[in-house]
Amino acid sequence: MPSKTKKNIVILISGSGSNMAAIVRTAQQQDWQRQFGAGVAAVISNRADTGGLQLAQSLGIATQVLSHKAFDSREAFDAALMALIDGYQPALVVLAGFMRILTPGFVNHYAGRLINIHPSLLPAFTGLNTHQRAIDAACTEAGCTVHQVTAELDHGPILAQAAVPVLPGDTAETLSARVLVQEHLLYPQAVHDWLQSQP
Ligand code: GRF
Repeated sequence: MPSKTKKNIVILISGSGSNMAAIVRTAQQQDWQRQFGAGVAAVISNRADTGGLQLAQSLGIATQVLSHKAFDSREAFDAALMALIDGYQPALVVLAGFMRILTPGFVNHYAGRLINIHPSLLPAFTGLNTHQRAIDAACTEAGCTVHQVTAELDHGPILAQAAVPVLPGDTAETLSARVLVQEHLLYPQAVHDWLQSQP
């Protein structure tokens, strides 16, 4: 059943869900329900076998699985995903490691209420393998970006960024771990700020 909170947040994941958990924990700790009339209504994964689903359940959040493999086309999957999300009447849809490219129809449907976190200092390094590419390019800084989602991948307006140093001897794994610590601070803060900016 859809939650009765006024400003429902729906979070989409594909993986371990650590950013999702950071947002849920912050919402609970800061009592976003009381502050903003907001709460995380559901976590939806396109994969049934991801640890993020158990993590969400352990935090008391309803979960749903919608496998993209059950659909013939990207458009058909996105239409079913929209129907599932819209059942929660979301004020905000949060992509947190959701590893699907979304159709323009989906993105336009949630225009202004769809955000993503990307593990680079955009506009640098859109796409995949961001940490290795930052190391290969001899960057001295890396980081993460929260941005609004538009039809062009990783190109929407930037809402917040956090930077970390790239250290001598860094591998993609060590750099990724350093960035992820910042992601877990930046994303909940960006959602908080978005809620605060709403009438
Ligand atoms: C994060 O690095 C995020 O920036 C990227 O995918 C990863 C998701 O990790 N979009 P998690 O599932 O939140 O742990």
